[in-house]
This record gives sequence, structure tokens and C-alpha cells, in this order.
Amino acid sequence: RNIPVVPEAPAGTLEALRADAAVCTRCPLHATATQTVFGEGPRDAEVMFVGEQPGDQEDISGRPFVGPAGRLLDQVIAEAGIDRSRLYVTNAVKHFKYEPRGKRRIHQKPNMGEVKHCRWWLDLEMALVKPKLIVAMGATALAALTDAKQRLQDVRGKAIAIDDRRTLFVTVHPSYLLRIPDERLKAEELARFREDMAKIQRLM
Ligand code: URA
Repeated sequence: RNIPVVPEAPAGTLEALRADAAVCTRCPLHATATQTVFGEGPRDAEVMFVGEQPGDQEDISGRPFVGPAGRLLDQVIAEAGIDRSRLYVTNAVKHFKYEPRGKRRIHQKPNMGEVKHCRWWLDLEMALVKPKLIVAMGATALAALTDAKQRLQDVRGKAIAIDDRRTLFVTVHPSYLLRIPDERLKAEELARFREDMAKIQRLM
């Protein structure tokens, strides 16, 4: 197990939080995952993107959104004129959940208990980074960020005030786009995702 040790990180810093999360055993997912995939980005990022949970490639590399969903996200945000290096990118759940099938590891959606346990880390990331705009990608991120059970399609594409300082913007998850089999529907949904990213760029 690759557990990064950051012994001297001062308390209350992202580095200290990352080190604590690296040895997290708050839920059983840590037992089968390779490592904790913590959020990444500037400590003072104004915008935080929240996904669901690391996938196979993220689990291996230890970094969020580096696999196929991350490549699509990178491409669409770049087209919208958003610089990823200015974003804090993280996930609702910090460990990869999967079912082994032969040599492959098939992604499994985290359940609400896992999302709730892992909110500990998401809440601390938000408390430290203090983003003014939080982007929820997909239903899991939406559930992690809001207690109310809102349906994604009802709040998608809108800037919602969380309080007088923070705005939530809800969009779909890039993995959803990658899974759409019908090419025409896929193109339509991709266009909507691009529009959402353009709206986010204007809110930044
Ligand atoms: N999907 C996610 O939700 N997060 C990642 O980091 C990768 C894929």
C-alpha cells in the first residue's frame, strides 16, 4: 500500500488533511482500494469541482480525474476557457469501489452510507479551500453537497445560492456522457455539458 507520509505538515493545512485521509478507515472501501484519492488544486481555489469517486486509473495513480472521464472533462473545460490548474478537483468519495471480474475491476456506485462517511473529508476540504463556486458533477456529488433530495434534472445548469458567499452549480458527470450508446443523444448531451461549462466560466 502506497501511504504517503507527510509528518511535518502543519495542522489545518490541506497537506495535513491529505495525510490524514491517506490512512482513512472510516468505511470499508479503504480495504480494497489501492490508495485514497484526495482532492487536488490550489489551496485558495475559487472554484471546486466535485465528482463521484475515483475510477480504476485514479485509484492506481492517486490523482482525481485522470482516466477517460477526466480526459473528457479536461477537453470540455479547456474549450470553455477554464484553466484546470486554477480549480480544486475532488470527489464525494475518496476510495475506488469496484467488483473484481477476472482481471478487470468494474466500477460500483458508492451507496449513501459511504457518501455520508466520506463527507467528513469533503466538508474539511471545503472549509479549508473556501471556494465561492462549487460544481457538482452528477447525482452522487449533488447528494453529498446538499441534504435535500433534489433531482439532478431539476437543478441542472443553474447557479443556486448556498449562502451569501457560495454558489452551487449542478451538471452531469462526464462518465455519464461516455456511457451514452446512442450517438445522436450523446452529441446532444455533450453540447449541454459544454453549455454548462461555458456558464461556469462566466460565473468564475
Ligand atoms: N469519476 C469520478 O467521479 N472521479 C474521478 O476522479 C474519476 C472518475
